[in-house]
Amino acid sequence: MRPDTAPRHTAIRLAEYTPPVWLVESVALTFALDPAATRVSSEIVFALNPDRAAADGTDLVLDGEMLTLVSASIDGEAVTPAVDSKGLRLSGETLPERFTWRAEVEIAPEENKALEGLYISNGMYCTQCEAEGFRKITYFPDRPDVMTTYTVRVEGDRATCPVLLSNGERGETGELPDGRHFAVWHDPHPKPAYLFALVAGDLKKIDDRFVTASGMDVALEIWVRPGDEDKCDYAMDSLKRSMKWDEEAYGREYDLPLFMVVAVDDFNMGAMENKGLNIFNTRLVLASPETATDANYAAIESVIAHEYFHNWTGNRITCRDWFQLCLKEGLTVFRDQQFSEDMRSADVLRIKEVANLRGRQFREDAGPLAHPVRPEEYIEINNFYTATVYEKGAEVVRMLHTLVGPQTYREALDLYFVRHDGQACTIEDFAACFEATSDRDLTQFRRWWSQAGTPRIRVRMAHDAATGETALTVTQKTPATPGQADKEPLHIPFAVGFLSASGEALALDGPDGERRDTHVLELTRPSETFLFTGAPEAPVPSLLRGFSAPVILDYPHTDAEKALLLAHDSDAFNRAEASRGLALTAAQAIATGEADTVDPILPDALATALSRGGDPAFLALLLTTPGQEEIAASLAAQGRTVDPDAVYAAKTALDTAIATAAKDALIAAWHDNATPGPYSPDAASAGKRALKNTALGLLVSLPDGPARALASAQFDEARNMTDSAAALMALVRLGGPAAQAALDAFHARWKHDPLVVDKWLAMQVAVPEVDALERAKALRARDDIDWRNPNRFRSLVGAFASNHRRFHAADGSGYDFFAEQVAWLDGVNPQTAARMATAFDTWSRYDEARREKMRAAMGRILDQPGCSRDTYEIVSRLLG
Ligand code: BES
Ligand code: ZN
Repeated sequence: MRPDTAPRHTAIRLAEYTPPVWLVESVALTFALDPAATRVSSEIVFALNPDRAAADGTDLVLDGEMLTLVSASIDGEAVTPAVDSKGLRLSGETLPERFTWRAEVEIAPEENKALEGLYISNGMYCTQCEAEGFRKITYFPDRPDVMTTYTVRVEGDRATCPVLLSNGERGETGELPDGRHFAVWHDPHPKPAYLFALVAGDLKKIDDRFVTASGMDVALEIWVRPGDEDKCDYAMDSLKRSMKWDEEAYGREYDLPLFMVVAVDDFNMGAMENKGLNIFNTRLVLASPETATDANYAAIESVIAHEYFHNWTGNRITCRDWFQLCLKEGLTVFRDQQFSEDMRSADVLRIKEVANLRGRQFREDAGPLAHPVRPEEYIEINNFYTATVYEKGAEVVRMLHTLVGPQTYREALDLYFVRHDGQACTIEDFAACFEATSDRDLTQFRRWWSQAGTPRIRVRMAHDAATGETALTVTQKTPATPGQADKEPLHIPFAVGFLSASGEALALDGPDGERRDTHVLELTRPSETFLFTGAPEAPVPSLLRGFSAPVILDYPHTDAEKALLLAHDSDAFNRAEASRGLALTAAQAIATGEADTVDPILPDALATALSRGGDPAFLALLLTTPGQEEIAASLAAQGRTVDPDAVYAAKTALDTAIATAAKDALIAAWHDNATPGPYSPDAASAGKRALKNTALGLLVSLPDGPARALASAQFDEARNMTDSAAALMALVRLGGPAAQAALDAFHARWKHDPLVVDKWLAMQVAVPEVDALERAKALRARDDIDWRNPNRFRSLVGAFASNHRRFHAADGSGYDFFAEQVAWLDGVNPQTAARMATAFDTWSRYDEARREKMRAAMGRILDQPGCSRDTYEIVSRLLG
């Protein structure tokens, strides 16, 4: 136990929500931009909220941090509020029911390296206000249920800031004395403060337009640093496809004559949905064939869509409070997943979504940071932009879609948009729209939002040859999580189908009397049995098809049954699942010493699948064996202590066995899936490159195999970053002077492009074969890289922490380096530091010696003077 366990920071609770005392009718802001001393004048019309809680009184309490108050007045009368480090307070006694507040504050954007509020990135002013950054710009009720219209006047130096942007529509512009100029912006849509944005600097744009279904002409602008204009085409194309898709799939049109996207270098997150002025991390906008991989292109498409979709799910209808974050994020992630599934291959996308869900959200749910999709308390809300809120939140909406069907889902969303447009809502409001349109009682289903932990679904099958009856007995149990010891049964859509022993699809008569290939069972009780008829012989069940619910499935398929499913299941997700199941079983056997060779069943099945052909993107996924982290998680789930060296050995043995069995087919796949000619980022071309590069990656594990020659040839000839980076990665794994020469050549060619430098950094520290710690330290010592930039820091320190073998080095040297780096970053950028610290969330899986070393490293982060609230919350929860 740590000696000083008295809480250093206080928690905010959902149960303590009360409505705002004062509402805002309108805001007018003037920014006089200056790097060291920006003046922000505000004029805010307040009106007493008739629905306020009596106990809250009528004092005017405004949030404000890191502000210097210059002056303040109420209806023209100067006032002197009580000011502290969190905000200000004025007694309600003398306040009329409606008044105009005027204030002037001073802020220093050039000193802001936390990247929240108004800051400067590469000479460019920009803002990040979600979740609580607006309070670092001026005094305001900085909470999402206070929505109002904004008029913003931006004044800046014409030479350094020729472009002045804010939300909404362009208004007056003009000249000012001393080489300065101004621009006025007006946003007619009421919005919470977290959607405010301002951008100013020397920016260039690319233009396009979109005509909405009802005929409104929308100007589209993507703003970037001079020189990057030729890397915006894919983002623009993705934006237009997103706008069209939201009209067709959800009936949602854009609602302003202008939509802007700005790319900035220094950004904590991926991107932000500010009304009419989305701000993006450069890595999610800029792409050219030479500099961006297929994965980068796919991410741009999906994040452009995600932020655009927020215009309705988040902006027009926002969250009442931050506990409702999944209302906008879970729903919008589901929407962007649907979009990507429509743009690319739905099966391939689903397999990737689930891999991501398991790798991040199941991990979170299994550890000390587990929390419900709708949390009940937080210290720092930035710590709750988690895989649980996002990815599990999206799965919950997907389950609703499955339960009510696509048509009723659309009706429910239509109702939601009509009923709640312009409001700040809760999960209850959202669920009520589904109840109204589906005539279903969702009381039990709502537990998905309030109950943490990943349910275990245990299934056992019995077949009666005399009657042809197949019975599935299904038991659900959710394990205890921090603060939630006892769990209730959930309402779970559970999709199942059956195959005959020879692999044909069997359409059985289900519990509802209907004959179908796939039945969606609804689990509601701790244990229940479902009967199917029509199978004369015992069938092979294909369970949880399409991953119909975010659960962990326990069914004793034999390896032979898994091989059958891998080869024949009509459900593509479960074909990949069978491959994963066989791979994990083999890896576990090696890691635990129960076997010293890999059973040939999987290598043979994969060699067969490869020679049969099919969608290259899907084949690439079949051939992607579980990573070390996934193998470690699977061992921990069986209650075993994880030995990182044994995990590495298991991963190597698995890949070697597959590469040995399928060597010729892999070499053929490498040759046959070249994509000569001009690069195209489309899913089919990307799928070929994925297969080719997955094949190369497997061949690397063959000692004295062909990988070195293939990788060298590929590296020399590559004309796109996907092939170039994959070849370089293979060379780095193979090691030796050729690897270093290739790394040097790559750096020499790309050192001026920070997003490519990020790849170069990550590659050197993320592969288990090299001495990643030594390299990480050497790279970190370079002074030609700004380590305060979150992309750079993550590419080095984050990538190192994802190197399971090296991060978990037995002597604790990986932990020490990582903790030292996180502690350093915490002094600069607490939000990103806290997020990085979550890498320790699996500490309890390992042996006692490693646990102690990890706990000590976390203790050092916590004990450093001035440890931020963000990092304090994460590390203290990690330590339990
Ligand atoms: N609203 C968020 C951005 C955000 C996150 C702001 C945390 C403040 C704190 C945005 O819509 C978002 O979700 N961005 C994601 C990408 C998305 C595709 C999941 C991000 O930035 O990672
Ligand atoms: Zn979002």
